[in-house]
Amino acid sequence: MSTTDWEAKYQAQDMPWDKGEASPGLVDFLAAQPQLPHGSVLVPGCGLGHDVRAWAAAGFGATGFDVAPSAVRLAHERTAGTGLAAKFQLGDFLGGSPAQPFDWVFEHTLFCAIDPARREDYVQAARRWLRPGGNYLAVNYLIPDKEGPPFGTTREELLERFSPHFELLQEWVPRSYPNRTGLELMFWWRKR
Ligand SMILES: C[S@@+](CC[C@H](N)C(=O)[O-])C[C@H]1O[C@@H](n2cnc3c(N)ncnc32)[C@H](O)[C@@H]1O
Repeated sequence: MSTTDWEAKYQAQDMPWDKGEASPGLVDFLAAQPQLPHGSVLVPGCGLGHDVRAWAAAGFGATGFDVAPSAVRLAHERTAGTGLAAKFQLGDFLGGSPAQPFDWVFEHTLFCAIDPARREDYVQAARRWLRPGGNYLAVNYLIPDKEGPPFGTTREELLERFSPHFELLQEWVPRSYPNRTGLELMFWWRKR
């Protein structure tokens, strides 16, 4: 588990990452790919669940997963009454494994949130939670910061870590929240 006390952050309402809406890069991806088969998707580190609801609204069987009980509670509250079939579960993405592996795993500000010493654990978790041939879609935050969270990374590090286990299908600069413009890169990988 991350050494950051995420639950304390939610209780203190210290959530600068939350922009009140889904990742613009994800919204554009789903709009551009209406033909994708509507499989299951896991959103680890889902926070308040904006991205989970975006996947559910696009027809996917979406599950949000978070280590902070308050995040899961708030995500449930934000979803109630929307008519969306989004699910939320409490748990540790790095330590857990799925009863049924997912067709998709969607990354958005979890990789940069965890302790960099756990990045190999993260790669192995992404493999474990996905079925063979499953899709790993990532909105990565490319900042130089060594003190975090968020902890910085580079395109080179991401390619080095993921390429041995995933085939890169596509890579692009997405539309971003205003304060992240030019700092995000999206990768669409397929599990080998
Ligand atoms: C920077 S926040 C991002 C939240 C959301 N993805 C967003 O962009 O709004 C990181 C989230 O990951 C969760 N988290 C951290 N470590 C985790 C772990 N090992 N397993 C599951 N969730 C984790 C935190 O509780 C927090 O909600």
